[in-house]
Amino acid sequence: MRVSVLGVLAAAGLAFAEKCNPSFFTPYLSSNASIVYARTFTSSDVFEGPLGNYTGMPEYCALYLNVSSSAVSSYEFGLWLPTDTWNQRYMAYGNGGFTGQVAFGDMAPGVNYGFAVVSTNTGHNSSVTEAGDAGWALNRPETRTDWGWRALHGSVVLGKVLTEAFYDKSIEYSYYAGCSTGGRQGLKSVQMFPEDFDGVLAGACAWWTSHQQNWDLKVALDNLPNNDSHHITADLMDVLAAEVLNQCDTADGVKDNIIMDGYACKFRPEALLCNSPSANTSTCFSADQINTIYRIYGDWIDTNQSFIFPSFAWGSESQVSLMIITDEADIDAPSGVAYPRDFVYNNADWPAQDLDFETILLSEYLDPGNATADNFDIRPFYRRGGKLIHYHGYADGEIPTGSSIYYRKQTENTLVPHGIDLDDFYRFFLIPGMEHCLNSVHDAPWYFAGANQPAGLTGDNIWGVPGYRDTKHDAILALVAWVENGTAPNELIATKFVDDTPALGVQAQRRACPYPQAAKYVGGDWNTTSSFRCV
Ligand SMILES: *[C@@H]1O[C@H](CO)[C@@H](O)[C@H](O)[C@H]1NC(C)=O
Ligand SMILES: *[C@@H]1O[C@H](CO)[C@@H](O)[C@H](O)[C@H]1NC(C)=O
Ligand SMILES: *[C@@H]1O[C@H](CO)[C@@H](O)[C@H](O)[C@H]1NC(C)=O
Ligand SMILES: *[C@@H]1O[C@H](CO)[C@@H](O)[C@H](O)[C@H]1NC(C)=O
Ligand SMILES: *[C@@H]1O[C@H](CO)[C@@H](O)[C@H](O)[C@H]1NC(C)=O
Ligand SMILES: *[C@@H]1O[C@H](CO)[C@@H](O)[C@H](O)[C@H]1NC(C)=O
Ligand SMILES: *[C@@H]1O[C@H](CO)[C@@H](O)[C@H](O)[C@H]1NC(C)=O
Ligand SMILES: *[C@@H]1O[C@H](CO)[C@@H](O)[C@H](O)[C@H]1NC(C)=O
Ligand SMILES: *[C@@H]1O[C@H](CO)[C@@H](O)[C@H](O)[C@H]1NC(C)=O
Ligand SMILES: *[C@@H]1O[C@H](CO)[C@@H](O)[C@H](O)[C@H]1NC(C)=O
Repeated sequence: MRVSVLGVLAAAGLAFAEKCNPSFFTPYLSSNASIVYARTFTSSDVFEGPLGNYTGMPEYCALYLNVSSSAVSSYEFGLWLPTDTWNQRYMAYGNGGFTGQVAFGDMAPGVNYGFAVVSTNTGHNSSVTEAGDAGWALNRPETRTDWGWRALHGSVVLGKVLTEAFYDKSIEYSYYAGCSTGGRQGLKSVQMFPEDFDGVLAGACAWWTSHQQNWDLKVALDNLPNNDSHHITADLMDVLAAEVLNQCDTADGVKDNIIMDGYACKFRPEALLCNSPSANTSTCFSADQINTIYRIYGDWIDTNQSFIFPSFAWGSESQVSLMIITDEADIDAPSGVAYPRDFVYNNADWPAQDLDFETILLSEYLDPGNATADNFDIRPFYRRGGKLIHYHGYADGEIPTGSSIYYRKQTENTLVPHGIDLDDFYRFFLIPGMEHCLNSVHDAPWYFAGANQPAGLTGDNIWGVPGYRDTKHDAILALVAWVENGTAPNELIATKFVDDTPALGVQAQRRACPYPQAAKYVGGDWNTTSSFRCV
């Protein structure tokens, strides 16, 4: 990046209010990049974002930039720089699904911590209500690459230059937080650009793009509404959820409606068979419907015993239920067909029913956008002192919990032979009862200030864990302490606020433990942290 000497000289001695305009930043840009706006927001100004309005943060300089990444593609990013409260740390936030939208909902909390915060639109604009829609990817390989990795990396690198210019000081530490696609982006950064971040917080990672995105379609095909004999409706899914709870809840030693390990339960769906003594005749399952449960909740193994993808843990039913399509025509809507159709075959008319093993092989071969984050050899990140905190909810009904477990195990299989103890730099937390990135079933504690989580709480200008701004309850502070102080997180305490509203107080808190440890009930009120221990 070419930096003008005049620009650097001009930077010294200017007040932040004078610096916060396009002419100050322009000398630091390469010819690809341009400033859309740069202006100061005081704590009483309202930043009107596409998903929400943000106010009450300490004063910051808000920039928006546009970078052309090829002759036919460009990405945009937001960079917010707290003027008087900067803590000399830099924080990038990731995205979700196929959505192209700057994560303003995470940037606002980030400014409250004192971070200089950055987030990209990933190279296209689309709203979160169209998170499953990848129509933008059709015939646009360069835009796929932006989504795959280039927009985040490019934004982070340029954002660092502009941050240091603004403050006329070096960034001391750089961090990342993202969930879902954001989790994938975090792992991708660790793999491909180990120098970008000192610490990465990656949740519910959609890392295995070439398999997972096809598996989404497989789940839809497994339960098509074209045949009442085997179709499972959302109502039946509720019945399944109740039976899962009935069979699995007490196995962990406490009947609290929270299944501590949804893969450990020896669940027998046969209890729901019509004519079985325990079944309710108005809500029972046919043998064909039981088979559908096994298809949805079983690993995807294909030709030559190839392991394609794991399935959900028991306890995820309420979110899995949302994926059920009620009209067969919806299979052509962006419900899982998006990736094979718009990325892999690049054919708007590709029929969803054509999904097969060849689709997986082609997806792996092409890996459009190089989006798949399946390089388990993350030694470069380890060697440069990077720290990774990875988490996944057990009740995730969008991305199976098992895919994160699989990533962790593959990384272990790759690094242990090199004499590396993963726990020295990579800790993995499974969160019982937590759904995809945020929220939970049966009031399980789920909140620890991970990416996307603040937006799941009710209240004004929420950031961190209100009332618990410490390294045990706040995963971002845990990451900072690990990177900067060498204090590895031996637990994370998840919180459930009453009605998910911090102003109403805490309803329950529970330890989550670094894998392969798990939280074990040791007696007492199960809503209290001390009633569980990591073993
Ligand atoms: C943000 O505020 C503007 C102006 O008051 C309003 O029109 C808009 O609906 C608000 N947006 C959201 C997402 O609440
Ligand atoms: C960014 O640049 C591209 C062309 O390079 C243009 O199509 C797009 O409208 C620009 N976006 C903004 C927000 O200026
Ligand atoms: C700028 O554009 C060129 C050619 O279009 C491309 O090779 C380069 O990677 C771009 N730089 C950035 C920062 O995207
Ligand atoms: C993308 O959305 C942002 C608002 O978040 C807007 O400022 C920008 O102009 C949009 N870009 C294009 C190319 O439409
Ligand atoms: C419905 O599915 C069952 C098996 O799941 C099959 O035996 C039956 O023939 C199917 N009926 C139709 C009309 O496709
Ligand atoms: C059977 O299920 C129906 C519908 O959910 C419910 O109304 C009824 O109370 C159940 N019967 C028994 C015996 O549990
Ligand atoms: C399955 O394995 C056999 C024997 O190794 C091989 O010949 C065949 O090509 C494989 N099939 C696929 C689809 O990879
Ligand atoms: C694709 O990403 C992987 C990391 O996930 C990286 O090792 C590889 O170099 C990338 N390939 C290309 C062609 O950019
Ligand atoms: C690092 O440890 C010191 C001493 O325990 C403490 O005062 C400081 O707040 C810690 N810093 C971080 C970032 O955790
Ligand atoms: C835990 O909290 C829930 C919801 O507030 C309550 O119903 C339950 O009785 C509590 N459990 C104990 C053991 O206090």
